[in-house]
Amino acid sequence: MEVGVARERIPGEKRVAVTPESAKQLISLGLGVVVEAGAGAAAGYPDAAYAAEGAQIAPSLDPATVDVVVHVRPLDPPAAARLKPGTVTVGLASPSSELPTVRVLAEGRVTAFALELVPRISRAQSMDALTSQALVTGYRCVLEAAIRLPRFFPLYMTAAGTIPPARVLVLGAGVAGLQAIGTAKRLGARVSANDIRPASADEVASMGGTFIRLDLESAEAAGGYARELGADRAVLQRQLLAPHVAEADVLITTAAVPGRPAPLLVTREMVAAMRPGSVVVDMAAESGGNVEGSVAGEDVVVPTADGSGEVTVVGLKDAASAMAFDASRLYAKNVANFIALLTREGEIAPDFDDEVVAGACLTHDGGVLHEPTAQALAALTAATGAAEVVEDEEIEGGAG
Ligand code: NAI
Repeated sequence: MEVGVARERIPGEKRVAVTPESAKQLISLGLGVVVEAGAGAAAGYPDAAYAAEGAQIAPSLDPATVDVVVHVRPLDPPAAARLKPGTVTVGLASPSSELPTVRVLAEGRVTAFALELVPRISRAQSMDALTSQALVTGYRCVLEAAIRLPRFFPLYMTAAGTIPPARVLVLGAGVAGLQAIGTAKRLGARVSANDIRPASADEVASMGGTFIRLDLESAEAAGGYARELGADRAVLQRQLLAPHVAEADVLITTAAVPGRPAPLLVTREMVAAMRPGSVVVDMAAESGGNVEGSVAGEDVVVPTADGSGEVTVVGLKDAASAMAFDASRLYAKNVANFIALLTREGEIAPDFDDEVVAGACLTHDGGVLHEPTAQALAALTAATGAAEVVEDEEIEGGAG
């Protein structure tokens, strides 16, 4: 059975779903690997390195000729429509925002696995692409802040005077936030952090950060995830955070609630109350933003309230892709480990009694197995169907 890896088609995406090292792992499972020429080039993996591990290089990849298609970004509907029935796909699928693709995958009888749906249990950690990519993003967002900040991160005691360490505040202490804390700490900053899950206090401390306790009730939901705060609690959280934000030289926000838009943690007024030269990095800019006015992929300049300067608000975008070599190395390992779970004696044979396999399966045998996605798709179909009926009636009415 053959695993195919195509060049990522989304502009700016440099990562690749198979590296030469992971190709070797897949081949050792008894699978063949076909790599579209140049698929790994932007991530720093030349065709020759794949060939050296035994992969085949194809000038272009016809997905209908392989059994397994691996990808980084979600497939689009035309790409999904090219897959033959029974094809297995493995990659990030963003099911809630890519419903049209999910529909094509289901109708095409493709067995699609979404790495976002891999259960976060110990046994599945080596396949957890959300974690591996959040690690890269958390590291990167600190560097983005550091190069824009007109100050040092570490304390310097020099003959020319003492420079105090930068104060870094991290809001949201999940995987990315903890990595940001660790990275800022390694650069010598004084780091504090807040999260609405009380359990994160110990994790923040273990990374060397100071946990800021707010007088808010716990917002921990099932599975260790956060739940959305009610409107009044969200307002209170912003009020309680305001003095801490004002004191920070660097603010990094990473807060997310599964299945919901990113919570708004920092208003424009809170940004304007920071000192001139301060830098804000909003890691959630692509999913609604934790910081009012942040724009994904752009630096927005906000004048300080006292008119003495400006604060830069960085809307982080494609951060993992910006570190494509190592981000791909981790991602490709997640993909290969997941495929290993599906493979028996050189054949892809998913065992749906395995909770990791079943949990990560988005579509199979003509149906959508992930219940929230199935419901969202049904709602979309109902809404689209209703719109089509109205359109038809308007056309018929117009004609009459
Ligand atoms: P995420 O990306 O969904 O959210 C990031 C952080 O934002 C979370 O820590 C969340 O509590 C926080 N947050 C949400 N709303 C907030 C608000 N209003 N104010 C401040 N913070 C807010 O989270 P991620 O990184 O995916 O981790 C979620 C959970 O999953 C954590 O408990 C983590 O330890 C756990 N986890 C478990 C793994 C395993 O056992 N294999 C692997 C990775 C994560």
